[in-house]
Amino acid sequence: MDGLTDVYARELLTGIGGYDLCVTEFLRVTDTLFPNRVFYRRFPELKRELKNEFNEDKKELSCTKSGTPIFLQLLGSDTIAMAENAAKAIELGAKGIDLNFGCPSKTVNKSNGGASLLKYPTQINQIVSSVRHSVPKNIPVTAKMRLGYEDQSLAHDNALAIQEGGAEWVTIHARTKKDGYRPPAYWDALAPISEQLHIPVIANGEVWSVADYFACKERSRCESVMLGRGAMVTPDLALQIKYTLEDKDIITFSWQDVCLVLDNLYQLMINNPQLNERYVAPRLKLWVKWLMPSYTQAEEIFTQLKRIKDPHQAIQLIKMSCQ
Ligand SMILES: Cc1cc2nc3c(=O)[nH]c(=O)nc-3n(C[C@H](O)[C@H](O)[C@H](O)COP(=O)(O)O)c2cc1C
Repeated sequence: MDGLTDVYARELLTGIGGYDLCVTEFLRVTDTLFPNRVFYRRFPELKRELKNEFNEDKKELSCTKSGTPIFLQLLGSDTIAMAENAAKAIELGAKGIDLNFGCPSKTVNKSNGGASLLKYPTQINQIVSSVRHSVPKNIPVTAKMRLGYEDQSLAHDNALAIQEGGAEWVTIHARTKKDGYRPPAYWDALAPISEQLHIPVIANGEVWSVADYFACKERSRCESVMLGRGAMVTPDLALQIKYTLEDKDIITFSWQDVCLVLDNLYQLMINNPQLNERYVAPRLKLWVKWLMPSYTQAEEIFTQLKRIKDPHQAIQLIKMSCQ
């Protein structure tokens, strides 16, 4: 998720457990082939030096420290540039390419990218197909779409266009662009699509709890689910789901556990010599804000935390709140 699931969030959330795969924030492609540094900025897990620092035992590129594979997400409509950038990302070590046909942002949609493409299944098919042909056969190319732009009338056509373009699977955010992020997510609308496609459909939207996960699976008839904002609000949500599936007892994260995650976030950022210290406090605040629906303590400290610019003071306040 753009602005949320950066290298640090990926490291921490997959470290807690329960994730089979994660996808980077989208990289917006116009009509050029990016230099290496653009890929490394969006996807630092491709860097060998970073792997040595973060990922000592599994020195594999395109994986988090816990070994969870990461796909690069590309967003754009220029078939040639999308294909060239995908091929380069794979050369740099990416484990897979995910294509974004769901972003509702005005800027992105104005330049014919993201959800605006859902009006044109043929174009979606051409983008998927072009990217598919540009990377080796063993590398998965996947796509993420919404149910539609204004309405759901082209949902099936778009999913089929993705399948026929050669995608390994399609993730569907069960809302249209017009629905934005407003509940509900229309999980039932995914069932006829997943029944008609021969590639897997991954359900996404409004999964905030273990109960939502099971309801989503049942109503969408999808085998797999992608977590969105729920991962930020409840950092151990994927682990809770995994434990439930394995019939293990769940001990949900206390505020103390969450404070440890925030301290790890602080340590990762502060120990990165390439990261400007000014970035640290805003990042901590952002996480605490997302935690507010799940933890009253987050709500209690947020007003005070909001005013703090110094990262050391910010983490001290967070630590004090769990004593
Ligand atoms: C701040 C924000 C940024 C997002 N950025 C991306 C993105 O870069 N790529 C993507 O595929 N989806 C992105 N999404 C959409 C989510 O992946 C997900 O599809 C959506 O939030 C619905 O799932 P949820 O209701 O579980 O959050 C973003 C959502 C939010 C709220």
